[in-house]
Amino acid sequence: MNTWTDRFAERMARVRASEIRELLKLLDQPDILSFAGGIPDPQLFPAERLQAAYQQVLTEAGAQALQYSVSEGLPELRRWIAARMTADGVPCDEGNIVITAGSQQALDLIGKLFLTRDDTVLAERPTYLGALGAFNAYEPTYGDLEAGVPAGARLAYLVPDFANPSGRTMTRQEREAVLDRAAAHDLVLVEDAAYRELRFSGTSEPSLLALDVARSGSIENARTLYCGTLSKTLSPALRLGWVCAARPVIDKLVLLKQGCDLHVSTINQMVAAKVVAEDYDAHLERLRVHYRERASAMQAALARHMPLGVSWSKPQGGMFVWLKVPEGLDGAHLLEAALAEERVAFVPGGPFFAVEPQANTLRLSYSLLGPDDIDEGVRRLARVIEARIAHPGSNMRRVARSAA
Ligand SMILES: Cc1ncc(COP(=O)(O)O)c(C=O)c1O
Repeated sequence: MNTWTDRFAERMARVRASEIRELLKLLDQPDILSFAGGIPDPQLFPAERLQAAYQQVLTEAGAQALQYSVSEGLPELRRWIAARMTADGVPCDEGNIVITAGSQQALDLIGKLFLTRDDTVLAERPTYLGALGAFNAYEPTYGDLEAGVPAGARLAYLVPDFANPSGRTMTRQEREAVLDRAAAHDLVLVEDAAYRELRFSGTSEPSLLALDVARSGSIENARTLYCGTLSKTLSPALRLGWVCAARPVIDKLVLLKQGCDLHVSTINQMVAAKVVAEDYDAHLERLRVHYRERASAMQAALARHMPLGVSWSKPQGGMFVWLKVPEGLDGAHLLEAALAEERVAFVPGGPFFAVEPQANTLRLSYSLLGPDDIDEGVRRLARVIEARIAHPGSNMRRVARSAA
């Protein structure tokens, strides 16, 4: 009798659970200070406004709200998104928008639309783990966007603003260089803008899609697909994201969406359309103030506590700081030690690399802890790292053991 593994489609060979998942399950314990979860602070969910909107939608349009609806998404919500994209330098209309179940589904549908086995996807180092998870089912190989474009490269995936996990923002010049390279090699560009609206310092750079449209004259000539989401600004549980792109791309994504799940929850789309029409920009401003405070608490704590030899990113938005510890230390082993010795957690950086992981990296999120807990958590983490810099053997032994 065959095992299940023999029965699964070949593509499943490249779909694997992340090694860090088991460790992350431990993080719910109340005495752990966790920088691991890269999720919005629930204090910022507009719960009352959502409650009122659900009530109103059910009272006034219950039959529509609880019914099936079109795969491209609610016209009203698509029009609102198109108007925001237009205001952000991308003139377009609702025909350029498909609503997806979060931007995560957009990444899956994009993989399905563009990737054939062994096509090369170019990604940043590090990159968003969930994008690799979505693309893996379409069996690509991965290349490094910075290192050059190999033959067979089809698509480049980027998070230009306040990236997960690095917190990095691409400069205008870097964006232009990516567009040059994409044009030279006829690449499809996937711009993941999950955190774009969460800028809390510095000045905004144009999106890749906006620069692409400025060069090519119209969204219909652009090679960039922009993935947006309401997860980081309203609530991830609504599962509302979108792709903004040329119409032929949107038309195909709509077909794929139909085959996948028909459409995003009608009621959630109607509720979101109501809530964003009220005072979305004032709501965004509250989020920015909140995350700015936490990000600066983390920068201050890192400067105060981290030993020499440790460096970190200084994000201008989003939720993440990327930490580099001296070569020879390993983020996964540091996490084991940090949990056991100091009750502090983070995500090791290695899994965020499509190929050739840099083990001496860590992702810290400041989204869920207040300033005092951030300071205390960084102080504890610094102790764990400092002890291993002082006695590298303790980490090296672990590396040797796990390699055996
Ligand atoms: C860079 C990035 N893209 C996409 C997503 C997916 O978010 P959602 O599907 O909720 O829009 C996340 C979530 O953490 C993310 O960090």
